[in-house]
Formats: sequence, C-alpha cells, structure tokens
Amino acid sequence: MKLLLFSSVAALTDVDKLGIVGDYHIKSSHSVDGYCPMPDAFDWPSMPGPRVYYDSERYALPLSIAVDAAPAASVSALLLACCGASGVKQDGNNNRWYVRSNPSSGNLHPVETYVLLNERLYHYDAMSHSLEQRAANATAPVAVSRDAVVVLLSAISWREEWKYGLRGPRYTYLDAGHAIGAVLQAARAFGWIGYVADHLADAELAALLGINDSLEAPVAAIVLDRRDGVAAAPQPTGDVTWYGAARPLAPRSWSHSAVDALASAVVKPTTPPRQPYVDEAGPATSAEAYVRLARRRRTALAFARNTTTSAAFFETLHAVLDEARRFEGVQVSPLLVFVHGVDGIEPGTYLVNPGELLSRVPAVPVSWPPEAYLISAGDVRAATAAAACHQAIAGDAAFVIAFLADMGAAFSEPPAPYMYPRLFWQAGALGHRLYLAATARGLGASGIGCFFDDAVHAFVGLSDERFQALYLVAVGAALPDERLLAEDPFVGLRGEGVSFTV
Ligand SMILES: Cc1cc2nc3c(=O)[nH]c(=O)nc-3n(C[C@H](O)[C@H](O)[C@H](O)COP(=O)(O)O)c2cc1C
Repeated sequence: MKLLLFSSVAALTDVDKLGIVGDYHIKSSHSVDGYCPMPDAFDWPSMPGPRVYYDSERYALPLSIAVDAAPAASVSALLLACCGASGVKQDGNNNRWYVRSNPSSGNLHPVETYVLLNERLYHYDAMSHSLEQRAANATAPVAVSRDAVVVLLSAISWREEWKYGLRGPRYTYLDAGHAIGAVLQAARAFGWIGYVADHLADAELAALLGINDSLEAPVAAIVLDRRDGVAAAPQPTGDVTWYGAARPLAPRSWSHSAVDALASAVVKPTTPPRQPYVDEAGPATSAEAYVRLARRRRTALAFARNTTTSAAFFETLHAVLDEARRFEGVQVSPLLVFVHGVDGIEPGTYLVNPGELLSRVPAVPVSWPPEAYLISAGDVRAATAAAACHQAIAGDAAFVIAFLADMGAAFSEPPAPYMYPRLFWQAGALGHRLYLAATARGLGASGIGCFFDDAVHAFVGLSDERFQALYLVAVGAALPDERLLAEDPFVGLRGEGVSFTV
C-alpha cells in the first residue's frame, strides 16, 4: 500500500505537488465566514485507538529515573520527558483520562514513538511506560556510537482528521513538531547531541519502522548520541527479524480528496545530509529538574486577566528565538505578538524578528531586547479572542505569539513540497520551547490551532499569501484546572510513581 502511494506520485512534478499543497492550505483554512470541512459529528465507533503491538516481548521501563552520558542507558528518562504519561484528570462524572509530557491537539496524540537501540527497534507505549519489541538486527543509515538512540516518530493523522476534518493534517504536523522539540530539548538538557536526520527519505523511514498500514506515515528520525561518542555508520548485521502484529486501527469514516492528495504530495525523497547543529554550551539545568519541568507542563484552560512581568515576557521570547536558530532554514520565526497585559509594555500588536516580512508591513521600531516593531497600539484582547475561533484564552492571556511562515522562501528554490509539514514541525517545536519556558517561570501556556486564518492575517495587513500564520500560543497566569489530580499517573497505571536516583 505504502509503496503504491510512493510510486503513484512519482509522475507529478514538484510544481504540481506545490499546487496540491497550496490548495490544501487554502481549503484547510478557517475563515470568519466559516470553518473548513470537517465531520458533522463524532463517529465514536471509528475513533482510531492507540497503536498496540501484540505477540511481542514487552519491557516495562524503570520508573526510578537515572540520566547518564549515554542515551542508550537513559531511555526511560528520555521517553518520560518527551512523551510519557505525565498527568491524570478526572471530571465531575468520574471520567478519568491521561495527559502526556507533549501536548496534542484535542489530546488525540497522532504521533507514535519508536526507539532504535542496540540494533533493536521498539514501539513506546506511553500509558504503561514500556517498550514493545518490533525488530532485531535493525540499523538506521546514520552514523552513531554504540551508546546512541535513534528516536523514530510516525503519525496517524486520521486520529486528528476524525475530529477536525481537513484541518487535521495541520494539527498532526504541529503535534509532530512538539514531539520533535520535546526529544531535542530533552537531549540538550541531558547533555547529549541531538539532531533530526532529515536527509532520509520517507520510504527509508517507513521501511525502518516496518510500517504496513496506510493510516500510519513516517515522520522523522532523531539521532541522540553522547557528546564524546565515536560515531560510525553501522554495518547491517543481517536480515531484520520482525516481531509482533499491530492491532488494526478503525478504518476512516471521513475523508476528503485534499487530505489524500496532500499526503502524497509531501512525501520526502532522499536529500543530501546536512551538518547537524551541535550546541557548544552544556545543559542549563539538571536532568532531574528538566524531567520534572517537562512532566508538569500543562495546557492552561483559562487565564486570569492580569499582567505578567516584562522580564518573563522577554525571557520567553528569547527562548523561542534561541530555539529557532537551531533549525537550519527555519522559516517560521517571524513572530506576530499580541501584547495584552505585560508590565511596562504598551498593549497592541507587534512584529518580532520579521525578516523579509518587514518590507510588507507598516510598523515602527520599538526598543525591545529582540528586534521588534509596533504594528498597532491598543487593546486587542477581544479581537484576538475572536480571531482564535472565539476562544477566551487568546484574549485573557498576557500575550499571544503567532508563528508566521514565509511560504514563498520555503517553496521557491528549489521547489520542495515536503517542506510544508516541516514548517509546522518548526512551529510546533518552537511552541514546545515556549510552553516549557512559560512553565519554568510559573506561567501557563495554551497551544491554539483553531484560528481564523484571514482574521489573523488582517492584523498584519497581509494582502497576498506569501506569509501564513501556522500556530498560536497564548501565555499568562493560568487558572487552576480542577480536573487535574495531584497524583502521578503511574500510581494508577503501574502501582508506583516516578522517582529519581540522580
Ligand atoms: C497543535 C495544538 C493545537 C491546539 N489547539 C488548541 C486550541 O485551539 N484550543 C485549546 O483550548 N487547546 C488547544 N490545544 C491544547 C490541547 O487541547 C492540549 O494539549 C491537550 O488537551 C492535552 O493537554 P495538556 O497539554 O495539558 O497535556 C492544542 C494543542 C496543540 C499541540
């Protein structure tokens, strides 16, 4: 099925594929005049459940956490910090559900996590914090030391499409960006090298993961290695042995031709390897502090309408810009910032790090630590909430950051349709850093995927389609979520909570 998909698009040129991408982006936009196509109601029987592999060895990862210079010896801490169960909520009707270290649109978690270590491939089950063995004699075509781990991500976009219809793939891409950011940011906090092996083709990743379900698509391979490890491309040791069978997912009960066309158009071919970005500086916090921070990150459901300090505002902005410079060819770091309540800063809409966008938007420079310009002064709380699909969080927060993509630059020379998901990945990864920066300063954050594209663009006065808003994140003083229980989720799931040995 997968191979058929790859070969059927070969006949299209990249320019044709860019047309498909553009068509999808326009059709999946929400407008003040109406939402994009989506299912009329929740079709519960066809809701795609968790990916589970049965008939394979399962290994419960230790809940007593240690972090070492060797990623392969610290997989438990890594997975907890990036995507493990981290909280449990219960509503007034005694319904309980779990949330994870990485946020997800609608808590639907389309992203699946696999790890390759010691030539064995495992699928991660976040709820039991265990690994299901998928393959032996498996090697990825990347240079690694003996102590490396390759995290492989895939996505089941149908999980998001089931609820959000045509906008589902955008949310899946953003979720994947959060997961990529969560892995890379954890690696950095643990003192490791971490980078996306983005030269690999989707077909190579699919083969590595043994994906044989048309609902699951490869996303990325992230190499994590010790700083002093001697990396070498592994020699394949023989035929890969596969274990386990995937529990089938419920088939799609809603579809749209633009979703299928998009999935084919953004398939990535092999590209030349790039020099990975390697941090010079060591970790800024202890590994334990980082795991605790990552696990207490939550999405704010509501914000108190009070102000935050300018120090917290600038620190979080700097964190986002710091993250952006780690992505080669980053195109989503022009930021549209809605300031509602920051001490000493005039409310209004601002452009930060605008690049080429500045030549298109009338704005006056302001003397902020990062390069910034005022577009328009005034109280925009009500207008921001209205533009965010009438969500109060966008108006009650202290500030909201919208990540803008320079679609023109991303798709021009050479035309690279596979950059489309990558722009959302970058926005998701920057959003992840923003969530963690806010959490570290006692603030709450809320990812906002639902916004009227045209209303957000109107703030910038954009008349053409070159720059597009991909994602918004609101930050401010979060009101408590009464449904969040104080207990560690693993007390209920495994009979014991997480503890730290270092
Ligand atoms: C890409 C993305 C888009 C989101 N969009 C919205 C949104 O429009 N409104 C909202 O209230 N929450 C939104 N969220 C937050 C999710 O609902 C939240 O992550 C999920 O319920 C899990 O809760 P947690 O983040 O506390 O773990 C979004 C999250 C992500 C990652």
